[in-house]
Amino acid sequence: MLLSIPDVFSKTEVARCRRIMDAAEWVDGNVTSGAQSAHAKNNMQLPEGSPAARQIGEAILDALGRHPLFLSAALPHKIFPPLFNRYEGGQSFGTHVDNSIRHLRGTEFRIRSDLSMTVFFSEPDEYEGGELSIEDTYGVQRVKLPAGHAVLYPSTSLHHVTPVTRGARVCSFFWMQSMVRDDGTRRLLFQLDQAIQKLVVDRGQKDEAVVELTGVYHNLLRRWAEI
Ligand code: NI
Repeated sequence: MLLSIPDVFSKTEVARCRRIMDAAEWVDGNVTSGAQSAHAKNNMQLPEGSPAARQIGEAILDALGRHPLFLSAALPHKIFPPLFNRYEGGQSFGTHVDNSIRHLRGTEFRIRSDLSMTVFFSEPDEYEGGELSIEDTYGVQRVKLPAGHAVLYPSTSLHHVTPVTRGARVCSFFWMQSMVRDDGTRRLLFQLDQAIQKLVVDRGQKDEAVVELTGVYHNLLRRWAEI
């Protein structure tokens, strides 16, 4: 499932993050690539674990931890510390699949990447090109969202970033292990949760059917979650 997650950050928060990023030193993006993606990748990145990456990364994880739509769709178990990239002057990232296992250098922290996420820090009119193109079951989806918005998509999908021919595209990207490994199963839980939320609005939290369906949701999650 491919899903837009709106308003991770307000425009004010985006501007604050951009000031920190624009003042930081950027390095060749190939430092985080696997062998296959190193061929395809041509961009700049904030060094992993640098003060700027840590500070904004923590703000992203904080914001996502308070975002009901994200939590309902991703059911996150472990999230890799966010990374940051910048594309300009024709830079692009060719078609690839993200590495299945991510290991945080110098630590025991390891995740299986079930979901990939991109948070946009440039407005769409600040740059030409730079679309995140994702091969979904419904065909190719081209994603270019307003600054402060994000897209969540299965790490199993082939994807690429088209060349940025004007301006600069600044984004954060990272991976997560979901409590529910299978994309189709996770989607069913998401649909059930969203339907329950609509019923809550119409009938209130204490409605008998709402209470029963909430029980079904949690009992399915209990059955399918790995933590
Ligand atoms: Ni990728």
